[in-house]
Amino acid sequence: MKILVTGGAGFIGSEFVRQAVKKGYQVAVVDKLTYAGDLERLKEIWDSINFYRADITNPEFVEHIFDKEKPDVVIHFAAESHVDRSILNPAEFLNSNILGTYVLLEASKKYNINLFINISTDEVYGELGETGKFTEESPLKPNSPYSVSKASADMLGRAYFRTYGLPVITIRPSNNYGPWQYPEKLIPVVIAKALQNETVPVYGKGLNVREWLYVEDCANAIFAIIEKGKPGEIYNVASGEERRNIEVVKAILELLGKPYDLIKFVEDRPGHDFRYSMDFSKIMKECGWKPKTNFEEGLEKTVKWYLEHKQWLFKKVEDLKEYWKKVYK
Ligand SMILES: NC(=O)c1ccc[n+]([C@@H]2O[C@H](COP(=O)([O-])OP(=O)(O)OC[C@H]3O[C@@H](n4cnc5c(N)ncnc54)[C@H](O)[C@@H]3O)[C@@H](O)[C@H]2O)c1
Repeated sequence: MKILVTGGAGFIGSEFVRQAVKKGYQVAVVDKLTYAGDLERLKEIWDSINFYRADITNPEFVEHIFDKEKPDVVIHFAAESHVDRSILNPAEFLNSNILGTYVLLEASKKYNINLFINISTDEVYGELGETGKFTEESPLKPNSPYSVSKASADMLGRAYFRTYGLPVITIRPSNNYGPWQYPEKLIPVVIAKALQNETVPVYGKGLNVREWLYVEDCANAIFAIIEKGKPGEIYNVASGEERRNIEVVKAILELLGKPYDLIKFVEDRPGHDFRYSMDFSKIMKECGWKPKTNFEEGLEKTVKWYLEHKQWLFKKVEDLKEYWKKVYK
């Protein structure tokens, strides 16, 4: 089976690609290599993949890749993925996440692919209060330019299934964490700041709740969906491991042996969703998947990975200094 992976040089996409190669799939990767893409993530399997540096919003180049690779399955990860950046610059999000998805769906229709997996997010549902869970039937109420762009891509997938019969499956994962995550997202930001004994910025009072999914489990869920998922369906992928941001930050400081007084509460993110939580019984029942890594174990592995890859982390941190000044006030 030939799989075309978009955004395969990103955090989750590269985990999927590394696993796919190890499982014996033929893999081609398309990635624009934005600030978030990095070929180092693909180093260990580089000789086994075909790589195209391309922007998915470019229809001619995308068609050329489909023509050359003739993929059976497309796994679409490529996106601008960070909420804070979408607040600063929405245009890039609408372009890559909506137009890019449209271009890929068109090419997939033209080349009659067998399966298109659209990687959406739990953020399309909007926010919850202290209780409750989103199911796949919950209405979409996205609140940030990022989540609106993802919800739009999600709806495009729905339309291509319904209108053209393209076999599209939509996956909505919760917050991922693990090795190779770019240090603009909460967990690697905390690790990077703490390792440098700098103040660790926490939005508001740190009470927001996220459901943490280890990236290896997320990639496993996608393989289960390739095998057993049903076209036209949506699958929530989550872990049940809900934590307040402040709990996550304190757990990291403890693992690193750093004091809590590094924590600095900063101005909250505009429109900050309070809590996400998903019912993921559908994928467990229909595809036989379940998360294997609990949060404490996953966090320990993640911190250990960053300690062993400090050079990679600090290289990224250098590029982030100006950006951090804009978001943490
Ligand atoms: N990280 C999470 O917690 C999370 C949770 C749920 C869903 N998601 C979704 O999963 C997918 C992957 O997330 P991630 O955290 O790995 O993101 P990431 O930012 O680490 O990687 C995104 C990749 O897409 C590439 N890309 C961006 N725009 C492109 C374009 N126009 N053309 C080609 N390539 C382009 C980037 O170069 C990068 O390699 C995204 O669709 C994201 O919305 C992420």
